[in-house]
Amino acid sequence: MSVRSVLLTGLVKALLVYTAAAVTFAVPATPPVNASKQLLPAPIGVSIEFFAWPGYADLASTEQCLQNFQALTGTWPPLRIGGTTQDRATYNASSPSEVMYTIASPSDAPASLTYGPSFLSLAGTYNGSVILGLNRQLNNLSNTISAAKKAVAEIANLDAIELGNEPNFYSSSSPINTNGGSWTASDDFASQASWQAAVGGNLSRTNLVSAGVYFSTSGFSIQGLTAVEGNSKQFVKDYCSHNYPQSRSTANLPQLMNHSAISQQIAPFKAEIAAANSKGKAYIMGETNSATQGGGGISPMFGSGLWVMDYSLQLLHLGTESLYFHQGTIGNCPYCWWGRYSMGAPYYGAYFATLALAGADQIAPLDDFNSTYGGWAIYSNGQITKVLLYNSDYYATGTRSAQIFNLTGLVGCSSVHAVRLTAPFSTSRQDQGQNPTFGGQTFQNGTCAIQGTPLQETTTVSDGKASFTVNASEALLVYL
Ligand SMILES: *[C@@H]1O[C@H](CO)[C@@H](O)[C@H](O)[C@H]1NC(C)=O
Ligand SMILES: *[C@@H]1O[C@H](CO)[C@@H](O)[C@H](O)[C@H]1NC(C)=O
Ligand SMILES: *[C@@H]1O[C@H](CO)[C@@H](O)[C@H](O)[C@H]1NC(C)=O
Ligand SMILES: *[C@@H]1O[C@H](CO)[C@@H](O)[C@H](O)[C@H]1NC(C)=O
Ligand SMILES: *[C@@H]1O[C@H](CO)[C@@H](O)[C@H](O)[C@H]1NC(C)=O
Ligand SMILES: *[C@@H]1O[C@H](CO)[C@@H](O)[C@H](O)[C@H]1NC(C)=O
Ligand SMILES: *[C@@H]1O[C@H](CO)[C@@H](O)[C@H](O)[C@H]1NC(C)=O
Ligand SMILES: *[C@@H]1O[C@H](CO)[C@@H](O)[C@H](O)[C@H]1NC(C)=O
Ligand SMILES: *[C@@H]1O[C@H](CO)[C@@H](O)[C@H](O)[C@H]1NC(C)=O
Ligand SMILES: *[C@@H]1O[C@H](CO)[C@@H](O)[C@H](O)[C@H]1NC(C)=O
Repeated sequence: MSVRSVLLTGLVKALLVYTAAAVTFAVPATPPVNASKQLLPAPIGVSIEFFAWPGYADLASTEQCLQNFQALTGTWPPLRIGGTTQDRATYNASSPSEVMYTIASPSDAPASLTYGPSFLSLAGTYNGSVILGLNRQLNNLSNTISAAKKAVAEIANLDAIELGNEPNFYSSSSPINTNGGSWTASDDFASQASWQAAVGGNLSRTNLVSAGVYFSTSGFSIQGLTAVEGNSKQFVKDYCSHNYPQSRSTANLPQLMNHSAISQQIAPFKAEIAAANSKGKAYIMGETNSATQGGGGISPMFGSGLWVMDYSLQLLHLGTESLYFHQGTIGNCPYCWWGRYSMGAPYYGAYFATLALAGADQIAPLDDFNSTYGGWAIYSNGQITKVLLYNSDYYATGTRSAQIFNLTGLVGCSSVHAVRLTAPFSTSRQDQGQNPTFGGQTFQNGTCAIQGTPLQETTTVSDGKASFTVNASEALLVYL
């Protein structure tokens, strides 16, 4: 090999390395074939653990955190009140209390509780839509019917009620299980169908129930339920799944936030969505968060916020109508978006996704979900309006890597502006002083008020092309 060709080979190699370093996305001006269906104006909401609902209504941050989303989309985010304690709760029509229970420690959830009409009228004060989770496990149908009647009367924005929470976990000793043996999927299908008919019949209402509510995609599944539900499906408003992708270990954070791993983790829900849609019903992710059992470890970290952002767009793209991120016991809830004293880094991801989706009605993936570098095209009325870029590489120590994203097809503009979602590390927690920022701003601890001066970045577009650098564990929202 001559010196010249060695030099040439070196040069070509250097160019190849540089070229390989940039991810290039051609941005379709109008929704491509793999775009989502039409999106709701405010698809990202919260689920509040049943017993804790009056407590959350009292927290200063609750209304402000929800109002921050409403300010972006013009619609209050959807609210679900439910969870494990809905299946431990008995309605008392003559109780003056919102909720009554005793617990040994403030960090516990009650094993048994009662609630009164004011619990339901409190839900009626929320200006967004409400899904209310009612009890089935305790097998008191008339009690659940009287609560459902009161809910319909008190909650003008009632979207749906649930009849039981995660019935895949009911057991041989659950009161609903009257046959003495183990609780099987077919027992649950028959029970759901008969309760839907009884509750819908007594209330003279169809399209009322958020059904399934499974923490499972096979056996106890929407595919199985819809196959045998028969005429009861008229009482169903939508079908609902729950999902917690990880356990708490910090070692799981790189996988949790990994754009490609998210796509693989949610793949089993495709068949559940298809089953719901085949019956002409919507599908929702009615309770979800990063890690099971209230979270911990990875849950309060910024990487979990990046997961909230990308996971929301991926599930919406698959055909989920809305998502409800669970908020548990106040003061004992690592994955919570806010608490009494501090803000959780995951809220930043939810806010950024809501910012990206504000005013949009369709999204489309620019990549094939096979790498850690993701891109989303965002459309309003059939026209491209924004692009969201996501570098899901983990960053906890040492030199921070960066990814160059080249966008093409940016017609009709000479420059674009962008806002960045970032934090010092994937592992950053606001309660430990490593505050995330979105466009340079933060959310105030204890109030959820937006603080700081908004920061925009400007990038030149030439011949429809522009180049952006997104560091490991960052996202960039580009306005076109
Ligand atoms: C990315 O864009 C930059 C700036 O326009 C350009 O120098 C580079 O060659 C592009 N890379 C690729 C792979 O197109
Ligand atoms: C319902 O509440 C009323 C009023 O507090 C109380 O007297 C009654 O014992 C409660 N019923 C049950 C079954 O707990
Ligand atoms: C809720 O809606 C009512 C009636 O439209 C309005 O008076 C009230 O201010 C709203 N509440 C909030 C928090 O926006
Ligand atoms: C079911 O609830 C009703 C009130 O709605 C109550 O009177 C009845 O005692 C309950 N039944 C059981 C078995 O707990
Ligand atoms: C109303 O509920 C009762 C159980 O409380 C049930 O036996 C009855 O069949 C229901 N009525 C209708 C019309 O579904
Ligand atoms: C991201 O997840 C995909 C799918 O599980 C995996 O193949 C890939 O190795 C992961 N990448 C990193 C950097 O962890
Ligand atoms: C979506 O379509 C674009 C072309 O418009 C393609 O580049 C991308 O890989 C596709 N992604 C998926 C997940 O289908
Ligand atoms: C993405 O990865 C999956 C699983 O490894 C593979 O089946 C598929 O062909 C890949 N898609 C592309 C576009 O490379
Ligand atoms: C990206 O990371 C590099 C290296 O840590 C840092 O110098 C740079 O400021 C970061 N860029 C942004 C936009 O945060
Ligand atoms: C939130 O509180 C923590 C703990 O006191 C503090 O370190 C952090 O800087 C605060 N964040 C903001 C945005 O005020």
